[in-house]
Amino acid sequence: MHLFAVFLCAVTAFPSLLLAFPSVPFKTSSRWVVDSTGANFTYIGVNWPGAADVMIPEGLQYASIESIVSKIKSLKMNVVRLTFAIEMIDDIKDNGGDVTIQKAFTKALGNNGATVYQQVIKNNPQFNASTTRLQVFDAVAAECSKQGIYVHLDNHMSKGAWCCSTNDGNSWFGDTYFNADKWKRGLQFMADHSKSWSSMVSIGLRNEFRKPDNAGSSQAYNWQTWYTHMVAAADLVNAANPKILIFFSGLDFDTTLSPIPGAGDLGGGKKFQKSSFKYVDKLVLELHNYQNSATSCDSMKSGLWNNGFKALDASSVNQMPVVLTEFGYSQTDSSYNGVYASCLRKIIPEWDAGWMIWVMAGSYYIRSGTQDYEESWGLVDHKWTGWRSASAIKGLQQMIDASLK
Ligand SMILES: *[C@@H]1O[C@H](CO)[C@@H](O)[C@H](O)[C@H]1NC(C)=O
Ligand SMILES: *[C@@H]1O[C@H](CO)[C@@H](O)[C@H](O)[C@H]1NC(C)=O
Repeated sequence: MHLFAVFLCAVTAFPSLLLAFPSVPFKTSSRWVVDSTGANFTYIGVNWPGAADVMIPEGLQYASIESIVSKIKSLKMNVVRLTFAIEMIDDIKDNGGDVTIQKAFTKALGNNGATVYQQVIKNNPQFNASTTRLQVFDAVAAECSKQGIYVHLDNHMSKGAWCCSTNDGNSWFGDTYFNADKWKRGLQFMADHSKSWSSMVSIGLRNEFRKPDNAGSSQAYNWQTWYTHMVAAADLVNAANPKILIFFSGLDFDTTLSPIPGAGDLGGGKKFQKSSFKYVDKLVLELHNYQNSATSCDSMKSGLWNNGFKALDASSVNQMPVVLTEFGYSQTDSSYNGVYASCLRKIIPEWDAGWMIWVMAGSYYIRSGTQDYEESWGLVDHKWTGWRSASAIKGLQQMIDASLK
């Protein structure tokens, strides 16, 4: 990216210009995200999960926040997609306030919680027995600001747990744990709270909507329901923090936003028309792609385009930025050179679209009931010390460099 090069030169010549970071707030202009200096900005980043059972950003029992952010920085990435669960805000609002990290580890990990908490404190001595979960998010955001990394918040789940399946109770409005009002309140809270984070730039309203196996008390799974709740949530977020960009994800695990670029009929007379928003210059679309067994880049490309990336095109009624906020592959084999990874590495930078890979993790505190769960798709090794695979990182670096051009 042009700006990056200019920025680097400027910094080398005049170190004091480092103060120019973070150049916020961002806005959008047609299909571009633009920073406060008017320069295009391309999201190039990684997911850092904080929405599982413990509801604390992962990895802190093995590494300091500073060292994790340094790893991200060393790749020349510019953003972190930091995920959170609505349950954390429900606790703050309804259950007597935020939970200390000490209690959170014990609650989620049982007997082992005390040990893990001690390891977290050892690696991150700025925390203590009264530190709360939200204060850890604050500390991550502060370190990101310090190192020149932007923060994109993402509401990943309602109940804190590994995401996502069609039977986890978090799939759709009205599902077992997915209370639409609490979801909106949680987004509003985080939008407001993050006003104090200097490199906070955007928020994703919800990670991956999906049709619940058992409809139960769920609302109709369709675009009309989507529109009603998403627009209401976006209005609240914008009122709480008018500076941040708002990311709209789609249906079917966020693999499709197909009616959005063309402002198609969503049912019930609803149409997504960007011009109808007062904050028209804050809207961004996001998609996910995990077609790991793909055999044809051409078909991946047309699939992604038709499922929403065509919003990048000037011919679309709703011409908007589109960011691939999740994709990923095993870091333990040659997947980085397979059709899927090679294809994304080529087409996403060609489209000048932003992206965040899954995932900055080597292991999780707990995933689906297993503690210290190995994340073979993680960029770092189990103990969050080095890269999991030097070759896979080299592949990723090509994508980063292509996007920076
Ligand atoms: C953003 O990039 C596009 C494509 O290179 C260019 O046409 C546009 O003018 C750029 N916008 C700004 C503000 O630099
Ligand atoms: C404990 O940690 C919190 C936040 O992490 C901090 O604000 C507070 O000052 C710390 N307390 C002590 C006694 O160090």
